[in-house]
Amino acid sequence: MSEQRWNDVDAYVEDLLIGPDEALDAALRASAAAGLPPIAVTPAQGKLLYLLARIHHASRILELGTLGGYSSIWLARALPSGGRLITIELYARYAEVASASIEHAGLSAMVEVRVGPALESLEQLIAEGGESFDLVFIDADKERTPEYFEQALQLTRPGGAIVVDNVVRDGALVDPDSGDPGVEGMRRFHQALARESHVSATTIQTVGAKGYDGFTLALIDPVQE
Ligand code: DHB
Ligand code: MG
Repeated sequence: MSEQRWNDVDAYVEDLLIGPDEALDAALRASAAAGLPPIAVTPAQGKLLYLLARIHHASRILELGTLGGYSSIWLARALPSGGRLITIELYARYAEVASASIEHAGLSAMVEVRVGPALESLEQLIAEGGESFDLVFIDADKERTPEYFEQALQLTRPGGAIVVDNVVRDGALVDPDSGDPGVEGMRRFHQALARESHVSATTIQTVGAKGYDGFTLALIDPVQE
């Protein structure tokens, strides 16, 4: 099956089930105009994140890898009133683009964009000892995903969920000869996940307008009554 067909099906889904969306479309245009890499989740994937957050009744969401704020807008829209999204971005320039798009989407009051290396921001969040998160979306640099996952576990409530993007990487996940540090990161991430006896998880392969990749969904066991 050709990549053209993957694009066509994504366009079909977008047309029938998602539709034009002023704030999201503007966010993508702003990202492109500012020269950010075109690696945001697709509309169909963004809506999946939104639906997962709604299904899970998430009122506190953490995102790693804000980029231009496209997925942040999807996630923030799933929040109930009084809900909060904290989104972490390494590059101040990306965070500025994202903040403007989040503001344009009318979501600034519920979204906090934190700038800096994710490991430091996560340590800071752990040190702050605030309320734990219902949902974490990890979509930052791929090589450090296992470390982000370990820290995210400390920040997620029992019964909470962690979603990780880009875990399959064209299937290179299972290619022992791939020396790509990002792929190696996703392999280490899966090994870490396999060791967590209190986490139930699966990985789903995806094709679409952003190629062949996949995501992992992990659910932390609820506390036993
Ligand atoms: C890359 C990063 C992403 O988060 C993504 O969804 C696709 C590609 C990258 O760094 O290449
Ligand atoms: Mg991604």
